[in-house]
Amino acid sequence: MAPRKLAAGNWKMNGTLASLEQIDQLLADHPAPGCDVLICPPAVLVHAMAARASGRIAVGGQDCHAKASGAHTGDIAAVELADVGASHVILGHSERRTDHAETDAQVEAKSVAAHEAGLIAVICVGETEAQRDAGETLDVISAQLAGSVPAGATAANTVIAYEPVWAIGTGRTPTNDQIAEVHALMRERLSARFADGADMSLLYGGSVKPSNAAEIFATPHVNGALVGGASLKAADFGPIIAALSAA
Ligand code: 13P
Repeated sequence: MAPRKLAAGNWKMNGTLASLEQIDQLLADHPAPGCDVLICPPAVLVHAMAARASGRIAVGGQDCHAKASGAHTGDIAAVELADVGASHVILGHSERRTDHAETDAQVEAKSVAAHEAGLIAVICVGETEAQRDAGETLDVISAQLAGSVPAGATAANTVIAYEPVWAIGTGRTPTNDQIAEVHALMRERLSARFADGADMSLLYGGSVKPSNAAEIFATPHVNGALVGGASLKAADFGPIIAALSAA
């Protein structure tokens, strides 16, 4: 089995019910994409988006709690996301690691909860600019993979996204060689640890847009993208889906 191609959109804290029109547009423009398509809207929109998409694109959360229920005001359980139609959940995004001081161990525990709920965990890793400048990128990514990806991960229940922190929302992207270096390392580490690590989908994320998507998708071991800003509008996300379909 080859890794599945996945165009994933992370709406972050953007969007209201009115934004669901973008789904209608995306489905109209790309009725049969040559890749999997996932959108992770704010949690309050997951149910409505899943109903609107009716299985034609996948819908996911942006975080979940490690426990299945309990006294955790404001948190959302993986089973609750699954209950309202989510198939995926983003975990360990750098904004969660920064804003909420999430550790690798917490991301691992959340990933286990996601798997138990039947969700595909989209686990994010990425170095800061200071870490890259210090030559620590490969060590940072190795440590995050080792600490965040649970032992039960498989190609069917886990997707890994490499998102350099300094490339998120900045308009800056790594060179293709830099992306290739990290993706080759991830493939090697995952293949060494998991029986089907060679088949896990590996995404690149950080300032992906229509103009750079094709070049990024031509990079070895890049099986798709996790897209922030350019996933909010069908007019931007559509061409990225088309580029991945053609890759
Ligand atoms: P941008 O595409 O806006 O840089 O965001 C990337 C990201 O963080 C996706 O999770």
